Amino acid sequence: MNSVWVVAALLAFWFIWQRKSKTQAGALPPGPTPVPILGNVRDLTAKELWLTATKWAKEFGDVVHVHVVGQGLVFLSSPEATMDLLDKKGSIYGDKPSLVAFTRYGESSRRQRKLINQAFGIQVIPSYHPLIEAETHSFIRSLVADPSNYIDHTRRYAGGLTLSVIYGYEAVGNNDKFLNLGEECVDILSNRIASGGGIWPVDIFPSLKGLPTWAPGSGFLLKAAQWKAKMEEFVDHPYNFVKASMKTGSYVPSFCSVLLEDKEKCNTQFEFDLKWTANSMYSASMDTTITVFCHFLLAMVLHPEVLAKAQKEIDTVVGRDRLPTFSDRASLPFVEALLSETYRWGVPVPLSLPHRLMEDDVYRGMFIPKGSLIFGNVWAITRDETLFPNASAFLPERYLEKVDPALAKKRDPRTYVFGFGRRRCPGVNLVESSVWLLITAVLATLDISKAKDDFGNPIEPKIDFNNSVFRIPDKFQCDIRPRSEHALKVLREADAARP
Ligand code: HEM
Repeated sequence: MNSVWVVAALLAFWFIWQRKSKTQAGALPPGPTPVPILGNVRDLTAKELWLTATKWAKEFGDVVHVHVVGQGLVFLSSPEATMDLLDKKGSIYGDKPSLVAFTRYGESSRRQRKLINQAFGIQVIPSYHPLIEAETHSFIRSLVADPSNYIDHTRRYAGGLTLSVIYGYEAVGNNDKFLNLGEECVDILSNRIASGGGIWPVDIFPSLKGLPTWAPGSGFLLKAAQWKAKMEEFVDHPYNFVKASMKTGSYVPSFCSVLLEDKEKCNTQFEFDLKWTANSMYSASMDTTITVFCHFLLAMVLHPEVLAKAQKEIDTVVGRDRLPTFSDRASLPFVEALLSETYRWGVPVPLSLPHRLMEDDVYRGMFIPKGSLIFGNVWAITRDETLFPNASAFLPERYLEKVDPALAKKRDPRTYVFGFGRRRCPGVNLVESSVWLLITAVLATLDISKAKDDFGNPIEPKIDFNNSVFRIPDKFQCDIRPRSEHALKVLREADAARP
C-alpha cells in the first residue's frame, strides 16, 4: 500500500468512528450505497456531475449524501433545501473548501466582500454604463470582423470590462498581456485542478496537504503550486500597474485607485485584501460570462422564431436609427424574458460552487456533519418540470405570465444561478447590466443562424460540455453577420459620438 492509501484508510476509519458517535443525532441523508473506505468515489463523474446528482435526487430525494474516503458531499436539489440551508442558515453554511482558490469564511472574506460591495453596489453600477457601452460596441465590431472566434471575443469583452472597472486598464486586442495571464490562471484552475465538479483531492483528503511533492498521488499539489505562482503574478502585475500610473498622475479612476486614494486605510493588510479582491473579481467574471453568452448564441441558432420576436420588439421600441441603451430596458419585456430564459436554460454553474458546513447540523431529522461540502444543484432546480413545464425547451414566454411574487421569486433563475447565501455572486449587479446590454445590442445589430455547408444545407451545431465546473458549450459552428449596412453605420456613428 502506498502512502496515499495509508493516509486515506486512516482518514476513513477516523471519519467512520466520528460519524458513529454523531449519527445518534439522526441518520445521514440518503444516497447511493458507498463501498468500504473509498465510499462513493466510483459514483462520481468528472463530466457533467450535475446529471448524476440529478439522477440521485430523483431516486433518493432533494438532500443526498455521498462520501469520498470520509469526506461528505451533500447535494441539495430543491429550492426549499437550498433556501433553508444555504440562505437561511448562511452563517454556518458560508465557508469554502480550503486549498487554493477561495478565501475561507471569516474576517478576511468579510473584509473582501465589503470592498466588492463598494465597487458593485446597485447604486454604483450606472457610473459604469459608459464603459459597458464602449466594451459592448467594441465586442460587436470584433464579432462582425471575425465571427467564428466568438469565444475569444467574449473572453476579451469580459476580461476587458473587468480590467477597466477594477484597474482602469484598457486591454489591447485579444492578445493583451493581462488577458493572457488571466486566461492561464483560469485554465489551470477550472480545467486542471477543479476536475470532478470542483471537488479537489485535498478537500477530500485534508492531510494530503503535507504530502511531499514526490509522493504518489501528489500530482495535484504540483498543479496547485503552479497555479499559486501564476496567480501571484496575476494578482501583483495589474495592481502594480494601478500604483505606478497613480504615481505618474495619468490614470483612469477605477475600483483600485478609488480605494487607494484613501491613504488613511492603506496598510499592508488593506493592500493585501484589495489586490486579492480585485483579482478574484476578474477570475470570477470570465468563464461565467462566456458561458452565458455562448448559451444565448446557441439558443438564437436553434430558435430563429425567438430571435425574430426579440428583434421585432427592439425595432418597434428603439427603432433602427440608434443602438439600444439602458433607458430602453423597461420597455423591452420580451428581451428581459429572453435573458431570464438564457440563465435558466444555460445554467452557467450547474452545481454552483461548494460551500463548507462549519458546524454539525440537523435538517428534517437528517444529520449533516461539520466539514461536509454542500452543493446547490442548480441544474436539478432549473429543470424541475413542476416549476418550469417543458423544462428542456427554450421558452422566454414562460416569464411573461403574471404570477404571485413568491412564485415569481421561486421561478426566477437569478435566485439560483448566482449562488446562495453569504457567498452569492457579488458581481451580480454588474452582470445584470452588462449581459443585458450585450444581448440587446447583439440582437439589434446582428443576425444569428445555423452555419451552412458547401451545398447550402444548414449544419446542426454539435454540442458537448467538457468543463467540469462551468457549463460552457464546446465551440460550435454558427453564422453571425450584420443585420444590414445600416446597422453597421449606426454602430460607427455611436462610436464617433463617444467622447
Ligand atoms: C453571468 C455571469 C456570472 C455568473 C453566472 C456568476 C455566478 C457565480 C456563482 C454561482 C458564484 C458562487 C456563489 C456561491 O458560492 O454560492 C459566484 C461567485 C463569485 N462571483 Fe460571480 N458570476 C458571474 C459574474 C461575475 C462577475 C462579472 C464578477 C465580478 C466582476 C463576479 C464575482 C464573483 C466573486 C468575487 C465570487 C466569489 C464570492 C465568494 O466566494 O464569496 N461574478 N459567481
